[in-house]
Amino acid sequence: MKNLKKMILCMLVAALVGSMLLTGCGKKGGNTDSTGENASQANVEENSSQNEENKSGMSEEELLRRQQLEVIPDDAVYKDASKSVEERVADLMSYMTLKEKAAQMVMAERNTASGGAGPADLQSYPLGSILSGGGSAPASGNTSQDWAKMIDQYQQVATEKTRLGIPILYGIDAVHGNSNLFGVTIFPHNVGLGATGDYELVEKIGAATAKDVRAIGANWIFAPTLGNPQYVTWGRSYECFSEDAKEVAPYGAAYVRGMQGVLGSDEFLSQSKALATAKHYIGEGYTMNGMNQGNVNMSDEEFDELLKSGVIEPFKQAVENGAKTVMISYNSVNGLKCHGNKHLITDILRGELGFDGIVIGDYNAIQQITVPGGKFEDQLLTAIDAGLDVTMEPFMWREITDDIVDFVENGKLSQERLDDSVRRILTAKFELGLFENPYSNADYIKETGSDESRELARQAVRESLVLLKNDKVAADKNVFDVLKNAENIFVAGKGANDIGTQCGGWTISWQGQTGKCTIGTTILDGIKEVTGKDAVYSRDGKDMPENTEIAIVAVSEIPYAESNGDRTYKSLQFMNSEWKVVEAIKEQNPDVPVLVILITGRTLVMDKYIDNADAIVCAWLPGTECEGIADVLFGDYDFTGKLNYTWFKTGDDFKDRKEDGVLFEKGFGLKKAD
Ligand code: BGC
Repeated sequence: MKNLKKMILCMLVAALVGSMLLTGCGKKGGNTDSTGENASQANVEENSSQNEENKSGMSEEELLRRQQLEVIPDDAVYKDASKSVEERVADLMSYMTLKEKAAQMVMAERNTASGGAGPADLQSYPLGSILSGGGSAPASGNTSQDWAKMIDQYQQVATEKTRLGIPILYGIDAVHGNSNLFGVTIFPHNVGLGATGDYELVEKIGAATAKDVRAIGANWIFAPTLGNPQYVTWGRSYECFSEDAKEVAPYGAAYVRGMQGVLGSDEFLSQSKALATAKHYIGEGYTMNGMNQGNVNMSDEEFDELLKSGVIEPFKQAVENGAKTVMISYNSVNGLKCHGNKHLITDILRGELGFDGIVIGDYNAIQQITVPGGKFEDQLLTAIDAGLDVTMEPFMWREITDDIVDFVENGKLSQERLDDSVRRILTAKFELGLFENPYSNADYIKETGSDESRELARQAVRESLVLLKNDKVAADKNVFDVLKNAENIFVAGKGANDIGTQCGGWTISWQGQTGKCTIGTTILDGIKEVTGKDAVYSRDGKDMPENTEIAIVAVSEIPYAESNGDRTYKSLQFMNSEWKVVEAIKEQNPDVPVLVILITGRTLVMDKYIDNADAIVCAWLPGTECEGIADVLFGDYDFTGKLNYTWFKTGDDFKDRKEDGVLFEKGFGLKKAD
């Protein structure tokens, strides 16, 4: 008996020393001064009191023994796939040290050159997740194989070279297809999908995207965006389905179902599925004048009323459909950044909506929270206290892990609160089956960019087209009658022969780019392919052949993302050079009918130009499969798309949403025969 007591005492001392080693003796590792010792001491006391009431039913000694094990036995419950997720999570948590738990809350960038975490770093900091921010492709190249190799390296270290073998979550902005990668199918941006009214289609796109994501070993998609822009001056308008939150909701829910599988079904979070992210929570479409990351000028009470009036609906439906993660928005409400807003995150999202998944912060957004003294650790604590589970401060992974350890050791953050976050993160990992199969999937890679997914995108392009204008070009003819029999077609405008412009932002790179950035079919190629005719093309509309029967002109926005896309009301228009192409054609031959195709992420001011066009089709940002445009122009398909945004005449009309300044009502969309 005496010996047993002695043994337990020895184990406790060993556990204490071990725990100090594993936690790096307090903040910013290697700090061995008295503060560090006190902190560790506090940790033991804190842990003791919490362990007495620990939910695992295990003794304090057993927990400490488990945290000290260098090698975890193969028969540990959490390694047994036949056990329930709850049992596995609880068991795994019983082995975890404070630092191992803290690290689960931290997401780092893959880009080590900028200070991100490489695979080997996971051995000293067993982080919960890694991301590729927009355009952050592997150094070796941008094919699916390059990505798979890179992500597998992280998983190999995480699962084979760390004490607990916890796989990582790997997050990526697959916002319209797995759009960082070369050669994948790029679907229309959400602004286009929101015109289709086809939720089944959107669900299929979500599923195709998730498969391309799992192909490369990533498993967390930062989409769909559920904002409802009130001011299209906002550079992220194209990421959103509609200006009306109630109409955003079913699209978002469909996307979530597609990406994760239907909640409660066998396919939910199965091999070809990934975590979806309902983003950005909340109010981003209401910032003053559409300023990205701006403030919603309302009192807290007014904002709560706004949420109740329908703005919460997309998030509510996403949660009901099982969305596993929600990303907090950069914007503020009544001067307070959402990342620090406990009422919005804990009371409403967790409380009222009953969300029990992962709340993730946006890229470097914690650093924007205002705190007295402006110290990062106070910003971090504020965000966690507000309800954040995973931080996306991509280059501060060491500091954040150490800070969280420090918070718990010093009683600033309760062990229980930390455990809540860790439980949610681990639950997602078990549900995704990552402990059994963390790696990329070569079979899925073979299907990436397949005919089937390109066909789906082509359908989406067809359905998203909105016919805005359709004048008679002769007594008994409109443009579509001419197109049907035309032999001599003239195509003009930069965007008509430019994959990058068609795809817009968040394609290959964060901002997107013009030019041949990936594989796909341009509008021009689509016309040639569908008609079998050899259309003549000119970028600026000059040198139009005399025998031209009809001109098809692309008028385009150039790609942008986030704040770079913000515009003033005065600059809310296409570049003049774009419409000059139409003028050039009319100058050469005013009798040639002109059909304008708008390649745009939003409803830009164009009222002074529309008289120059005989027909106008809004194609939004259609992506890589523009045969879909030719299908409708030349084929038997008719237009079915309807505006999900109000189109105003002038910048001032947009600003004040003036009723008498409406050019096209929301819901507007013509047919070929109209
Ligand atoms: C965007 C998010 C995105 C994140 C990661 C942020 O700048 O706001 O939508 O998911 O970057 O790339």
